Amino acid sequence: MVNVIGLGYIGLPTALMMASHGVEVVGTDYNPELVETLKSGKTTFQEAGLEELFAAAAAGGIRFTTEYQVTDTYIVSVPTPYDKFSKKVDPGYVTAAVREVLKVAPKGAVVVIESTVSPGTIERYVRPEIESAGFRIGEDIHLVHAPERIIPGNMVYELLHNNRTIGADDKEIGEKVAKLYASFCQGEIVVTDIKTAEMTKVVENTFRAVNIAFANELAKICRHDNMDVYEIIRICNMHPRVNILQPGPGVGGHCISVDPWFLVGDYPSLAKVIDEAMKTNDGMPDFVLNRIYEIMKEKGMTDISRVGLYGLTYKENVDDMRESPTLQLLESQERHLATGLKVYDPFIQKDVVKNQYHSLDEFLDAVDLVVIMVKHNEIREQMEKLSGKVVLDCHNICTLPGVYHI
Ligand SMILES: NC(=O)c1ccc[n+]([C@@H]2O[C@H](COP(=O)([O-])OP(=O)(O)OC[C@H]3O[C@@H](n4cnc5c(N)ncnc54)[C@H](O)[C@@H]3O)[C@@H](O)[C@H]2O)c1
Repeated sequence: MVNVIGLGYIGLPTALMMASHGVEVVGTDYNPELVETLKSGKTTFQEAGLEELFAAAAAGGIRFTTEYQVTDTYIVSVPTPYDKFSKKVDPGYVTAAVREVLKVAPKGAVVVIESTVSPGTIERYVRPEIESAGFRIGEDIHLVHAPERIIPGNMVYELLHNNRTIGADDKEIGEKVAKLYASFCQGEIVVTDIKTAEMTKVVENTFRAVNIAFANELAKICRHDNMDVYEIIRICNMHPRVNILQPGPGVGGHCISVDPWFLVGDYPSLAKVIDEAMKTNDGMPDFVLNRIYEIMKEKGMTDISRVGLYGLTYKENVDDMRESPTLQLLESQERHLATGLKVYDPFIQKDVVKNQYHSLDEFLDAVDLVVIMVKHNEIREQMEKLSGKVVLDCHNICTLPGVYHI
């Protein structure tokens, strides 16, 4: 039996996927409300294919509880934020979860850390936790790191098809865990050591962050000297060895806006390009805010409350708002002692910010300038509703005439 600890964006689909592929799974989360929701047969966030997966897992006998289970395999999938000052990973959730696991784990149990951590975190924080509780690693408890690569919006497909990395001290244990993941994963599963596995996950997200920052920097250069960044990127990408990403209003979520900071925090004198890239991406919401003011001036607009931000989530067609560029932009606006921007997102039903709307039509009636912060399918499919509005399109998706870009 596998006990998955932490049933959030990563733990829940992982638990469901295993349960729907013949593995006996118990999902544990310390949030009783979340567990009650799952027990009542409801999913806790929106994601393509999740409901169907839930039904298959329920048929496979998955159970949900707040209790840690006595079993031979634990998968820990709890948050790993970064400390905003030191930039280092905050391993507190992982070590707390491991402490709880150790209270019930039988001899020989395998503890798989799925949470993303910086290289050396397991050595520095998880091993001492286990040893100080009187366990011998490699005999009483086996440690494995199996970082997750899936992207919200396409999680179910990617869980099935992405290649995976398993890091273990002991190759045999690594292969055993690889076999468990192979119950559902059709991709290649590479077994390596723990520190390599830790580093690969952080490097993958850092690669994305640095490349996004490059595109964002190009957008700023092109804006400064009145060049069309999209046309330039399009032509450059016709070169056989060039593949530039698209600029945007910033980055968010639990991965690209967080994990690269771990390297800056741990290697401050070495991770220079990464540091600059992260600052560039973090500066994009302010850049968009400045663009809003520039466009308002050009159009003779004076009332910021007639400006609306379309999209609150950090990426399209998901309901995850963590670290989203829109939230960063709203914070920045408040720091400048200005408020009034209107906001709407079809995926966010609850009121989470000031001046938030829950209907696209009512939102559009209330504003003259629309800023496309997120390219949800909804707006792509109803683009004609923006005609007659001033549009600042941060994703180059709007084909109406006279649209402004970042
Ligand atoms: N969200 C993503 O897109 C993504 C992608 C790849 C990797 N990751 C990594 O996966 C890990 C989990 O991220 P997430 O997005 O699923 O987080 P999340 O916040 O959505 O979920 C974490 C869950 O863990 C629970 N939890 C925390 N401590 C616990 C404990 N001691 N015992 C039981 N439950 C506990 C919380 O209640 C929460 O439900 C992080 O390290 C993250 O960096 C996330």
